[in-house]
Amino acid sequence: MLSCPTVPLSNGLQIPIFGLGTSHYGGYSHDAVVYALTECGVRHIDTAKRYGCEEKLGQAIRESGVPRSDLWLTNKLWPGDYGREVRPRRRPAWTPALGWGWNTLVWVVIIDYLYLMHWPESLQPGRSNRETRAETWRALEELYKEGVCSAIGVSNFLIHHLEQLKEDCSVVPHVNQVEYHPFQQPSQLVEYCRQEGIVFEGYSPLAKGQVLSDLTVLQIAEKYRRTPAQICIRWSIQNGVVTIPKSIKKSRIQENCQVFGFQLEDSDMAALGRLHDERHVTWDPTNVE
Ligand SMILES: NC(=O)c1ccc[n+]([C@@H]2O[C@H](COP(=O)([O-])OP(=O)(O)OC[C@H]3O[C@@H](n4cnc5c(N)ncnc54)[C@H](OP(=O)(O)O)[C@@H]3O)[C@@H](O)[C@H]2O)c1
Repeated sequence: MLSCPTVPLSNGLQIPIFGLGTSHYGGYSHDAVVYALTECGVRHIDTAKRYGCEEKLGQAIRESGVPRSDLWLTNKLWPGDYGREVRPRRRPAWTPALGWGWNTLVWVVIIDYLYLMHWPESLQPGRSNRETRAETWRALEELYKEGVCSAIGVSNFLIHHLEQLKEDCSVVPHVNQVEYHPFQQPSQLVEYCRQEGIVFEGYSPLAKGQVLSDLTVLQIAEKYRRTPAQICIRWSIQNGVVTIPKSIKKSRIQENCQVFGFQLEDSDMAALGRLHDERHVTWDPTNVE
């Protein structure tokens, strides 16, 4: 079973450094999620309204029998739902989506539940991104202060987005979830987040599979008798970056979990560090004002 280190958030909560991703890209597997929870000991799952599987995920969690208080769940608010009405509209909507209704809201309070703004851009015509971001963030601050969310954060935010949020709002995001793999290493953003007390969480740690055939990764995998996926996940973890590889295949989930019994040497960490080529395999927030 997985014995997973945690990373402290600025509010004292501990996020498991390894979690299971879910996605609309490549499908969703109920059996794989139950397997991850019951057979692999995964206790951190990442999802989003955008992925369309919140309800199914709630079913899988209930079926697993894993005590809900043991689970770290991350969910994300889609930009189409941004604005000052987030609180009244989202509160009844998203809690039952993962299987909890108004009557059991207290339960949501006691689990480690992280809620993120998914993307820095406003999809609302006529409103500036900055204005909408600030308004939405204030609504999340309210949810946090009321104890509805255990932690709040952002995703795909760059330094200028975080600086504006700091000027406009009061709670510093607990987490920033950003694309991070050997081909995409936003070092300045990682450093900025560390300085500001924001936990840096990396998504697409396998570059959606692209990095698994890289020659350097293959050579390092051979040296340690590990798989390329394990090398990339281990590299994130050794860099102190929370990582959430996604798979709908049981064998791959098990493989991806086996990343705690070995250590990459400094020279191999450095070789992987040199693979950065600025490639994005998802979306790129660089031009979002
Ligand atoms: N905040 C955001 O904007 C954002 C954006 C993208 C992703 N995310 C989150 O990050 C998670 C992971 O990112 P991702 O899905 O984009 O990319 P990823 O985890 O880098 O790669 C997933 C792909 O790799 C395959 N795979 C997984 N394990 C493997 C293994 N051991 N060997 C070979 N192939 C393997 C998967 O296929 P199978 O499923 O067929 O195994 C899938 O095609 C998502 O699920 C989501 O939770 C967040």
